[in-house]
Amino acid sequence: MIPGIRAIELITKAHNRSDFNCGKPQLNDYLKTQARYRNKKDITRIFVAVSDDNSNRIVGYYGLTSTSIATSELSDKMIKGLPRYPITCALLARLAVDVSFHNKGLGGVLLAHAWRNVLEVSKKLAIKSMIVDAKDQEAKTFYLHHGFIQLTSGPMRLALSIDDIRKFFR
Ligand SMILES: CC(C)(COP(=O)(O)OP(=O)(O)OC[C@H]1O[C@@H](n2cnc3c(N)ncnc32)[C@H](O)[C@@H]1OP(=O)(O)O)[C@@H](O)C(=O)NCCC(=O)NCCS
Repeated sequence: MIPGIRAIELITKAHNRSDFNCGKPQLNDYLKTQARYRNKKDITRIFVAVSDDNSNRIVGYYGLTSTSIATSELSDKMIKGLPRYPITCALLARLAVDVSFHNKGLGGVLLAHAWRNVLEVSKKLAIKSMIVDAKDQEAKTFYLHHGFIQLTSGPMRLALSIDDIRKFFR
């Protein structure tokens, strides 16, 4: 674990969200106004990284839910051997780190935590890839750096196959 982090765990009422600032207002607001409700209603599972200073302060988070992609979103190489109906995937709904923890490895640790969760789920329910819709070019660069590739349906829609996620933990 990264120094200064107590745990990565499911969001609860006990977590302090009010001071979270990742530098992107949209992602701050989501954590403060929607994340807990979305988790409670089984829409998006929200995992938070919590500071170890006894404040229960959230210093990073990500959201996971499911989605499906049409085979038309895939390149000819990726489409090979797949049925022509929509394919079940995991969606990394959001990922953000508080500015006080930027460039300390927490973004990578949260991403690996999400991969581990998806891998576990995929043992009981087949999941072809993890999908992410990058919010801007900076986010896209972060995901490309971590092995995601661009889908054919748009410049900001990226995917990482479950095979690549498996290889990461081998
Ligand atoms: C993008 C973000 C999550 C990165 O978190 P972080 O904790 O600072 O990143 P890390 O320190 O874990 O970096 C992990 C790796 O990614 C690289 N990286 C970090 N930010 C990057 C970026 N913007 N572009 C490319 N690579 C990046 C690091 O160099 C590091 O590489 P290495 O493992 O090869 O050394 C964080 O900057 C953030 O919250 N930004 C605002 C919200 C956002 O844009 N979220 C993403 C899209 S929804």
